[in-house]
Amino acid sequence: MNATRAAFAADVRAGLSLPQKQLPARWLYDDVGSALFEAICALPEYGLTRADERILIRHADEILACAGEVWRVAELGSGTGRKTRVMLEAAARLGPVSYLPIDVSRAALERCEREMSGLANVSVRSLETDYLDGLRAIERAGPGRLLVLFLGSSIGNFDQAAALAFLRDVRAALAPGDLLLLGADLVKAPELLREAYDDPIGLTAAFNRNVLARINRELEGAFNVRAFAHEVRYDAAAQRVEMHLRATSRQEALIGAAGLRVTLEAGETIWTESSYKFRLADLERLARDSGFAVTARWCDAEWPFVEMLLRVQA
Ligand code: AVI
Repeated sequence: MNATRAAFAADVRAGLSLPQKQLPARWLYDDVGSALFEAICALPEYGLTRADERILIRHADEILACAGEVWRVAELGSGTGRKTRVMLEAAARLGPVSYLPIDVSRAALERCEREMSGLANVSVRSLETDYLDGLRAIERAGPGRLLVLFLGSSIGNFDQAAALAFLRDVRAALAPGDLLLLGADLVKAPELLREAYDDPIGLTAAFNRNVLARINRELEGAFNVRAFAHEVRYDAAAQRVEMHLRATSRQEALIGAAGLRVTLEAGETIWTESSYKFRLADLERLARDSGFAVTARWCDAEWPFVEMLLRVQA
Protein backbone atom coordinates (compact mmCIF):
# COMPACT_ATOMS: atom_id res chain seq x y z
CA MET A 1 0.00 0.00 0.00
CA ASN A 2 1.53 3.39 -0.91
CA ALA A 3 1.95 6.10 1.74
CA THR A 4 -1.05 8.21 0.65
CA ARG A 5 -3.40 5.22 0.60
CA ALA A 6 -2.10 4.08 3.98
CA ALA A 7 -2.67 7.58 5.45
CA PHE A 8 -6.18 7.66 3.94
CA ALA A 9 -6.97 4.23 5.43
CA ALA A 10 -5.65 5.31 8.84
CA ASP A 11 -7.73 8.53 8.82
CA VAL A 12 -10.85 6.63 7.74
CA ARG A 13 -10.35 4.03 10.46
CA ALA A 14 -9.76 6.66 13.16
CA GLY A 15 -12.42 9.16 12.03
CA LEU A 16 -15.23 6.65 11.52
CA SER A 17 -14.56 5.11 14.94
CA LEU A 18 -15.31 8.39 16.78
CA PRO A 19 -18.70 9.02 18.47
CA GLN A 20 -19.29 11.90 16.00
CA LYS A 21 -17.95 10.25 12.88
CA GLN A 22 -15.68 12.51 10.87
CA LEU A 23 -13.27 12.55 7.95
CA PRO A 24 -10.47 15.09 7.42
CA ALA A 25 -11.45 17.51 4.62
CA ARG A 26 -8.25 16.92 2.66
CA TRP A 27 -9.61 13.57 1.40
CA LEU A 28 -12.33 15.45 -0.53
CA TYR A 29 -9.71 16.31 -3.19
CA ASP A 30 -8.99 13.38 -5.49
CA ASP A 31 -9.23 14.06 -9.26
CA VAL A 32 -13.05 13.98 -9.15
CA GLY A 33 -13.25 16.13 -6.00
CA SER A 34 -10.77 18.68 -7.36
CA ALA A 35 -12.74 18.97 -10.61
CA LEU A 36 -15.98 19.42 -8.64
CA PHE A 37 -14.34 22.08 -6.45
CA GLU A 38 -13.22 23.97 -9.55
CA ALA A 39 -16.81 23.90 -10.82
CA ILE A 40 -18.07 25.10 -7.40
CA CYS A 41 -15.79 28.15 -7.75
CA ALA A 42 -17.77 29.14 -10.87
CA LEU A 43 -21.18 28.90 -9.15
CA PRO A 44 -23.01 32.22 -8.76
CA GLU A 45 -23.85 31.27 -5.16
CA TYR A 46 -20.18 30.66 -4.18
CA GLY A 47 -18.75 34.18 -4.16
CA LEU A 48 -15.52 33.35 -2.32
CA THR A 49 -13.19 32.63 -5.24
CA ARG A 50 -14.39 35.58 -7.31
CA ALA A 51 -13.89 37.92 -4.34
CA ASP A 52 -10.35 36.62 -3.85
CA GLU A 53 -9.67 37.17 -7.58
CA ARG A 54 -11.26 40.61 -7.69
CA ILE A 55 -9.04 41.89 -4.89
CA LEU A 56 -5.89 40.57 -6.52
CA ILE A 57 -6.84 41.84 -9.98
CA ARG A 58 -7.57 45.31 -8.60
CA HIS A 59 -4.69 45.58 -6.15
CA ALA A 60 -1.83 43.35 -7.33
CA ASP A 61 0.50 46.28 -8.05
CA GLU A 62 -0.27 47.89 -4.73
CA ILE A 63 0.26 44.61 -2.86
CA LEU A 64 3.65 44.18 -4.52
CA ALA A 65 4.56 47.80 -3.76
CA CYS A 66 3.76 47.19 -0.07
CA ALA A 67 5.76 43.96 -0.11
CA GLY A 68 8.91 45.73 -1.32
CA GLU A 69 11.41 43.96 -3.52
CA VAL A 70 10.44 40.32 -4.00
CA TRP A 71 12.50 37.79 -5.94
CA ARG A 72 10.65 34.62 -5.12
CA VAL A 73 6.94 33.87 -4.91
CA ALA A 74 5.94 30.56 -3.31
CA GLU A 75 2.37 29.32 -3.30
CA LEU A 76 0.86 26.85 -0.84
CA GLY A 77 -1.28 24.77 -3.20
CA SER A 78 -0.66 25.08 -6.92
CA GLY A 79 -2.76 27.97 -8.12
CA THR A 80 -3.93 27.41 -11.63
CA GLY A 81 -6.17 30.40 -12.02
CA ARG A 82 -6.18 34.08 -12.82
CA LYS A 83 -5.30 35.11 -9.28
CA THR A 84 -1.84 33.54 -9.27
CA ARG A 85 -1.15 34.79 -12.78
CA VAL A 86 -2.08 38.35 -11.88
CA MET A 87 0.26 38.33 -8.87
CA LEU A 88 3.13 36.92 -10.91
CA GLU A 89 2.61 39.45 -13.70
CA ALA A 90 2.71 42.27 -11.14
CA ALA A 91 5.88 40.86 -9.53
CA ALA A 92 7.54 40.34 -12.92
CA ARG A 93 6.91 43.97 -13.89
CA LEU A 94 9.35 44.87 -11.11
CA GLY A 95 12.05 42.38 -12.12
CA PRO A 96 12.76 38.67 -12.71
CA VAL A 97 10.94 36.43 -10.28
CA SER A 98 10.93 32.73 -9.58
CA TYR A 99 7.60 31.08 -8.86
CA LEU A 100 7.60 28.05 -6.56
CA PRO A 101 4.25 26.28 -6.28
CA ILE A 102 4.14 23.66 -3.51
CA ASP A 103 1.65 20.80 -3.72
CA VAL A 104 1.48 17.08 -2.99
CA SER A 105 -0.31 16.47 -6.28
CA ARG A 106 1.97 15.94 -9.29
CA ALA A 107 -0.97 16.40 -11.69
CA ALA A 108 -1.89 19.76 -10.16
CA LEU A 109 1.72 20.95 -10.35
CA GLU A 110 2.04 19.92 -14.00
CA ARG A 111 -1.12 21.85 -14.87
CA CYS A 112 0.19 24.84 -12.96
CA GLU A 113 3.61 24.69 -14.68
CA ARG A 114 1.88 24.62 -18.09
CA GLU A 115 -0.32 27.59 -17.25
CA MET A 116 2.42 29.79 -15.81
CA SER A 117 5.22 28.82 -18.20
CA GLY A 118 4.55 31.52 -20.81
CA LEU A 119 4.90 34.45 -18.41
CA ALA A 120 7.73 36.85 -19.25
CA ASN A 121 10.34 37.32 -16.52
CA VAL A 122 8.96 34.37 -14.50
CA SER A 123 10.76 31.06 -13.99
CA VAL A 124 8.72 28.21 -12.53
CA ARG A 125 10.09 25.48 -10.25
CA SER A 126 7.52 23.32 -8.57
CA LEU A 127 7.96 21.38 -5.34
CA GLU A 128 6.06 18.12 -4.97
CA THR A 129 5.87 17.94 -1.20
CA ASP A 130 3.82 19.20 1.72
CA TYR A 131 3.67 22.92 2.40
CA LEU A 132 6.09 23.14 5.29
CA ASP A 133 8.77 20.89 3.81
CA GLY A 134 8.48 22.93 0.59
CA LEU A 135 8.97 26.23 2.42
CA ARG A 136 11.95 24.88 4.35
CA ALA A 137 13.56 23.68 1.12
CA ILE A 138 13.08 27.11 -0.48
CA GLU A 139 14.52 28.91 2.52
CA ARG A 140 17.57 26.63 2.47
CA ALA A 141 18.06 27.22 -1.27
CA GLY A 142 19.38 30.75 -0.77
CA PRO A 143 18.70 34.39 0.00
CA GLY A 144 16.13 36.70 -1.60
CA ARG A 145 12.94 37.99 -0.07
CA LEU A 146 10.12 35.50 -0.35
CA LEU A 147 6.41 36.23 -0.75
CA VAL A 148 4.23 33.25 0.16
CA LEU A 149 0.68 33.08 -1.21
CA PHE A 150 -1.94 31.22 0.80
CA LEU A 151 -5.13 32.17 -0.99
CA GLY A 152 -8.76 31.10 -1.30
CA SER A 153 -9.45 30.93 2.46
CA SER A 154 -7.81 27.53 2.74
CA ILE A 155 -6.89 28.67 6.27
CA GLY A 156 -10.65 28.41 7.02
CA ASN A 157 -10.53 24.63 6.64
CA PHE A 158 -8.32 24.35 9.76
CA ASP A 159 -9.85 24.62 13.22
CA GLN A 160 -8.53 27.50 15.35
CA ALA A 161 -5.80 25.56 17.14
CA ALA A 162 -4.61 23.95 13.91
CA ALA A 163 -4.65 27.32 12.07
CA LEU A 164 -2.46 28.88 14.76
CA ALA A 165 -0.09 25.90 14.82
CA PHE A 166 0.13 25.93 11.01
CA LEU A 167 0.87 29.66 10.76
CA ARG A 168 3.49 29.33 13.50
CA ASP A 169 5.15 26.57 11.49
CA VAL A 170 5.00 28.72 8.34
CA ARG A 171 6.53 31.61 10.29
CA ALA A 172 9.30 29.34 11.60
CA ALA A 173 10.13 28.20 8.05
CA LEU A 174 10.56 31.82 6.85
CA ALA A 175 13.22 34.48 7.39
CA PRO A 176 12.66 37.94 8.89
CA GLY A 177 11.31 40.27 6.20
CA ASP A 178 9.61 37.47 4.23
CA LEU A 179 5.90 37.95 3.60
CA LEU A 180 2.69 35.96 3.63
CA LEU A 181 -0.36 37.01 1.62
CA LEU A 182 -3.28 35.37 3.40
CA GLY A 183 -6.73 35.29 1.75
CA ALA A 184 -9.63 34.68 4.16
CA ASP A 185 -13.40 34.61 3.90
CA LEU A 186 -15.17 36.96 6.32
CA VAL A 187 -18.30 36.42 8.41
CA LYS A 188 -21.44 37.13 6.39
CA ALA A 189 -25.20 36.51 6.48
CA PRO A 190 -26.00 32.84 7.26
CA GLU A 191 -28.43 32.69 4.29
CA LEU A 192 -25.61 33.57 1.89
CA LEU A 193 -23.39 30.90 3.40
CA ARG A 194 -26.14 28.29 3.23
CA GLU A 195 -26.68 28.95 -0.50
CA ALA A 196 -22.93 28.92 -1.12
CA TYR A 197 -22.44 25.52 0.54
CA ASP A 198 -25.77 23.96 -0.46
CA ASP A 199 -26.14 25.17 -4.02
CA PRO A 200 -29.36 24.51 -5.91
CA ILE A 201 -27.82 22.33 -8.65
CA GLY A 202 -26.13 20.01 -6.18
CA LEU A 203 -22.45 20.47 -7.09
CA THR A 204 -21.42 20.82 -3.46
CA ALA A 205 -23.53 17.79 -2.57
CA ALA A 206 -21.64 15.77 -5.19
CA PHE A 207 -18.31 17.15 -3.91
CA ASN A 208 -19.26 16.03 -0.40
CA ARG A 209 -20.59 12.56 -1.37
CA ASN A 210 -17.52 11.92 -3.50
CA VAL A 211 -15.49 11.24 -0.36
CA LEU A 212 -17.56 8.08 0.23
CA ALA A 213 -17.25 7.12 -3.44
CA ARG A 214 -13.49 7.62 -3.05
CA ILE A 215 -13.43 5.28 -0.05
CA ASN A 216 -15.24 2.72 -2.22
CA ARG A 217 -12.80 3.20 -5.10
CA GLU A 218 -9.53 3.32 -3.18
CA LEU A 219 -10.11 1.41 0.06
CA GLU A 220 -12.37 -1.45 -1.03
CA GLY A 221 -15.32 0.29 0.61
CA ALA A 222 -18.94 -0.73 0.20
CA PHE A 223 -20.87 2.44 1.05
CA ASN A 224 -24.24 2.92 -0.61
CA VAL A 225 -23.40 6.52 -1.57
CA ARG A 226 -27.00 7.25 -2.60
CA ALA A 227 -28.16 6.63 0.96
CA PHE A 228 -26.32 9.75 2.23
CA ALA A 229 -27.74 13.26 2.08
CA HIS A 230 -25.62 16.41 1.92
CA GLU A 231 -26.23 18.55 4.99
CA VAL A 232 -24.93 22.04 5.73
CA ARG A 233 -25.01 23.63 9.18
CA TYR A 234 -23.92 27.08 10.23
CA ASP A 235 -22.66 27.41 13.78
CA ALA A 236 -22.82 31.18 14.35
CA ALA A 237 -20.99 31.08 17.69
CA ALA A 238 -18.08 29.16 16.17
CA GLN A 239 -18.31 31.19 12.88
CA ARG A 240 -18.20 27.91 11.03
CA VAL A 241 -19.99 26.25 8.12
CA GLU A 242 -20.06 22.48 8.55
CA MET A 243 -20.61 19.90 5.82
CA HIS A 244 -22.03 16.56 6.90
CA LEU A 245 -23.23 13.40 5.18
CA ARG A 246 -26.45 12.16 6.78
CA ALA A 247 -27.48 8.50 6.52
CA THR A 248 -31.09 8.51 5.33
CA SER A 249 -31.58 4.95 6.69
CA ARG A 250 -29.50 2.55 8.79
CA GLN A 251 -26.24 1.79 6.94
CA GLU A 252 -23.60 -0.88 7.37
CA ALA A 253 -20.48 -0.85 5.22
CA LEU A 254 -17.30 -2.84 5.15
CA ILE A 255 -14.11 -0.90 4.28
CA GLY A 256 -11.70 -3.67 3.40
CA ALA A 257 -8.41 -1.76 3.19
CA ALA A 258 -9.11 0.05 6.48
CA GLY A 259 -10.04 -3.19 8.25
CA LEU A 260 -13.29 -1.60 9.43
CA ARG A 261 -17.00 -2.39 9.45
CA VAL A 262 -18.90 0.82 10.04
CA THR A 263 -22.53 1.19 11.11
CA LEU A 264 -24.57 4.41 10.97
CA GLU A 265 -28.03 4.69 12.46
CA ALA A 266 -30.68 6.48 10.36
CA GLY A 267 -30.06 10.21 10.75
CA GLU A 268 -26.48 9.82 11.98
CA THR A 269 -23.88 11.99 10.22
CA ILE A 270 -20.26 11.96 9.13
CA TRP A 271 -18.72 15.44 9.53
CA THR A 272 -16.64 16.00 6.40
CA GLU A 273 -15.54 19.66 6.43
CA SER A 274 -15.43 22.82 8.53
CA SER A 275 -15.14 26.16 6.83
CA TYR A 276 -14.40 28.93 9.33
CA LYS A 277 -15.37 32.51 8.60
CA PHE A 278 -13.36 35.34 10.16
CA ARG A 279 -13.68 38.82 11.57
CA LEU A 280 -10.77 41.15 10.81
CA ALA A 281 -9.85 41.21 14.50
CA ASP A 282 -9.68 37.36 14.57
CA LEU A 283 -7.21 37.37 11.71
CA GLU A 284 -5.12 40.17 13.17
CA ARG A 285 -4.88 38.23 16.44
CA LEU A 286 -4.03 35.01 14.60
CA ALA A 287 -1.29 36.83 12.64
CA ARG A 288 0.18 38.43 15.74
CA ASP A 289 0.05 35.22 17.78
CA SER A 290 1.93 33.37 15.08
CA GLY A 291 4.74 35.92 14.80
CA PHE A 292 3.63 38.08 11.87
CA ALA A 293 2.94 41.82 11.69
CA VAL A 294 0.01 42.99 9.56
CA THR A 295 1.48 45.23 6.84
CA ALA A 296 -1.72 46.02 4.93
CA ARG A 297 -5.11 44.58 4.02
CA TRP A 298 -7.60 44.77 1.15
CA CYS A 299 -11.28 43.85 1.41
CA ASP A 300 -13.93 43.06 -1.19
CA ALA A 301 -17.19 44.94 -0.74
CA GLU A 302 -19.38 42.64 -2.84
CA TRP A 303 -18.55 39.38 -0.99
CA PRO A 304 -16.84 40.08 2.35
CA PHE A 305 -13.34 38.67 1.93
CA VAL A 306 -9.91 39.96 2.90
CA GLU A 307 -6.39 39.73 1.61
CA MET A 308 -3.91 40.39 4.44
CA LEU A 309 -0.25 41.07 3.81
CA LEU A 310 1.76 39.79 6.77
CA ARG A 311 5.44 40.30 7.39
CA VAL A 312 7.68 38.03 9.45
CA GLN A 313 8.75 39.82 12.60
CA ALA A 314 12.46 39.76 13.36
C1 AVI B 1 -11.11 25.11 -0.29
N1 AVI B 1 -12.02 25.67 0.68
C2 AVI B 1 -11.61 27.02 1.09
C3 AVI B 1 -13.45 25.63 0.29
C4 AVI B 1 -14.32 26.25 1.40
O1 AVI B 1 -15.10 27.13 1.06
O2 AVI B 1 -14.18 25.87 2.56
C5 AVI B 1 -13.92 24.20 0.02
C6 AVI B 1 -15.41 24.08 -0.21
N2 AVI B 1 -16.23 23.32 0.45
C7 AVI B 1 -17.45 23.45 -0.01
N3 AVI B 1 -17.44 24.33 -0.97
C8 AVI B 1 -16.16 24.74 -1.14
